[in-house]
Amino acid sequence: MKRPKVFIANEIPKAAEEYIGQHCDYIMWDFSKRKTFQGIVDNIGDVDGILEVGMKIDRDLLKHAPSLKVVSNISVGYNNYNLQDMKAMGVLGTNTPGVLDNTVADLILGLIISAGRRIVEADADTKAGNWKKGEMDKFFGKDIHHSTLGIVGMGRIGEAVAKRAKGFDMDIIYHNRTRKEDAEKRLGARYMDMDQVLQNADFLVVMTPLTDETHHLIGEGELKKMKKEAFLINASRGPVVDEVALIKALEEGWIAGAGLDVYEKEPVDANNPLLQMKNVVTLPHIGSATRKTRDEMAMVAARAIVEVLEKGDSACIVPELRKS
Ligand code: DGY
Repeated sequence: MKRPKVFIANEIPKAAEEYIGQHCDYIMWDFSKRKTFQGIVDNIGDVDGILEVGMKIDRDLLKHAPSLKVVSNISVGYNNYNLQDMKAMGVLGTNTPGVLDNTVADLILGLIISAGRRIVEADADTKAGNWKKGEMDKFFGKDIHHSTLGIVGMGRIGEAVAKRAKGFDMDIIYHNRTRKEDAEKRLGARYMDMDQVLQNADFLVVMTPLTDETHHLIGEGELKKMKKEAFLINASRGPVVDEVALIKALEEGWIAGAGLDVYEKEPVDANNPLLQMKNVVTLPHIGSATRKTRDEMAMVAARAIVEVLEKGDSACIVPELRKS
């Protein structure tokens, strides 16, 4: 029987590459070269599967891959998928749910503590040799323990954040499309409408996937409802927050600060005003960036592509593209 052919568009660990090699023929992008649209097109003319991270998957690309059956994202987010185009062209898409929840939640707690307790700012100041005797209140921050954590988007990662926050005796409130009474019982979280979460949170964690409905979910109106002492934390997708509105909110003091792992444009522009703000902790989209988790994500993505190509199904097919 003819083996399916896979195009590996991103660097993956040897174990994931070997797994694909046991089940499929494969070609890989030449990673010494910068990726271009034409370069991708040149590789996908006869492939059955593509393994990638964040590549725009829409009609413009798919029309160059007539044999394509599945695209496997090495990420949990799949806003790079044009679901309508993929559906219309009969191409399945998978993601990597579950394996990165704890790693991303750890980072979100890191952002909360770094922003609230001004860790990055204090670190830079100390390293610059600015610590002077008697300066007792220079880096007063905001307590994390016993403060109110607002979570917008109580999915698996939201729950993992709440679990950690419980250990800090935080009061956990949340808003989600559907109420999650089981999570409320397990985590002691309280469901509230969006406005109540915005108005009461000391730390507002945005953890929704990026969809048409969540694009600019947090804009001027929402930021104005937040407490002046509150911090916005975003490690989901940049465009969930209207960045122009956020910059205005920070410049004009509508909120106290922010912790960001994601931006409307990535990599973030070097002249983005957020990068100049001392009260904003800025990370380069490293939510899942530990060796162990990234290796596991690549294995999950490799297994998913093989499952779809061998059996026509995988638990990792994203819900919108599942057949039944
Ligand atoms: C994902 O997998 O979607 C995360 O953004 C990685 O950090």
